[in-house]
Amino acid sequence: MPVHVVVGAQWGDEGKGKIVHALAEENDLIVRFNGGANAGHTLMVEGEKVVLHLLPVGIVTRFKRNLVGPYTVCDPEVLVKELAIADAYKSEVFLDPRAGVVLPIHKLLDGGRENASGGGAIGTTKKGIGPCYEDYVSRRGLRLGNLTDADAIRAELARGRSYEERAAVAQFHGLAPPSLDETVAWAASFIKAVQPRLADTVEMARQAVAAGKRVLFEGAQGVNLDLVAGTRPYQTSSFCGAGGVSASFGITRFDRVTGVAKAYATRVGGGPFPSEMGEADDETLRQAGSEFGATTGRSRRCGWLDLPLLRASCDAGGITELVINKVDVLGKAFAEFQVCVRDGKYVKLPGWGDDVHFRNLRLYGHLPVGAQILFDLIEKYTDRPVVGVGTGPASHDIIWKRN
Ligand code: GDP
Ligand code: IMO
Ligand code: MG
Repeated sequence: MPVHVVVGAQWGDEGKGKIVHALAEENDLIVRFNGGANAGHTLMVEGEKVVLHLLPVGIVTRFKRNLVGPYTVCDPEVLVKELAIADAYKSEVFLDPRAGVVLPIHKLLDGGRENASGGGAIGTTKKGIGPCYEDYVSRRGLRLGNLTDADAIRAELARGRSYEERAAVAQFHGLAPPSLDETVAWAASFIKAVQPRLADTVEMARQAVAAGKRVLFEGAQGVNLDLVAGTRPYQTSSFCGAGGVSASFGITRFDRVTGVAKAYATRVGGGPFPSEMGEADDETLRQAGSEFGATTGRSRRCGWLDLPLLRASCDAGGITELVINKVDVLGKAFAEFQVCVRDGKYVKLPGWGDDVHFRNLRLYGHLPVGAQILFDLIEKYTDRPVVGVGTGPASHDIIWKRN
């Protein structure tokens, strides 16, 4: 299967990181194609929890080659931390020179905008994603390729007086932004780390595909947060489905587009959540599934799996197959759980308690009856096969259903 895309089919945090980690070994290239350090992809590596925000999950697989694509936004501070992890695994990282650089002022502005929105705030991660992408689409702002020398950095930030304008907006929000000189010095401090890793990742990915190599694209966020498909304004600023790969890499033929979903649903931040649970169930599930944000530590809102919405996400994200994670958690948390099959209409199914026994299951046919009915319903409503079932947080806690 040479070109494989893994995307979130809900509002992020579906366990994409675990799935990519499980598939990394059998792929030649792992490519992050959207977003920035707003992501938090959690892995279990040799029994230890590791959370990656920016670099592809392939960095913790020894000697693996990883790319960060051109329509990402990179926070150099996070980059440097994760490059050290990559070095420890002797994995390779190539960064596209067109990727945006998240500046300290972007983070300030992100927070300032949120404060100004009061009760109508989006609930962003405050990682500067929106303001950095604004610069990207308005054809200004630093890109990784500008990190060559202080003069190049200054020239880009001064072009069209863009940094000055940004600083004025920050002041409008009552913030005290770093000066241009401070920002130039800050950015220049990352030249040494970034420069040797710059490469045309689009060309690298295309050549790999042409040579029949196996390329795995790692999505961040989820289709319901997509800049176009998500509900405005409760979205992120990038394209979260397989179309995001096409827009950046010009690759339009995929062998598999795996949508990752949970057996229930979670959402961090504001915005509509039609199948959101009542308070008591929400708390039960949050505790059972440790539903706290991997990036911000915020409590994740919890809800039941919404099948018509999942169908819509599969359509919007170009998803061809599904992996359902956290099936162990759902069955353990509730003696009886619900699944939304239509606007406000839910089906009740029996849970399966004992998650220890559940985690040790390795054959799809051995799944408890409630889980089997759940997957039949998912397949029927989404018209996509369920190819994998997550039974725990480690990369081996997946039952792959191979026909
Ligand atoms: P991502 O952003 O899509 O990579 O997902 P996150 O890492 O933000 O959140 C998923 C959380 O669920 C992490 O803490 C994972 O370790 C955990 N997880 C993933 N799959 C499973 C599963 O099947 N069962 C259990 N119990 N935990 C899982
Ligand atoms: P991973 O890759 C969950 C949400 C934020 C907010 C909205 C906009 O771990 O699945 P942003 O900072 O992007 O401007 O915030 O999007 N959000 C995520 N929620 N998982 C993520 O990433 C997210 N990245 C952004 O909570 O609602
Ligand atoms: Mg996450």
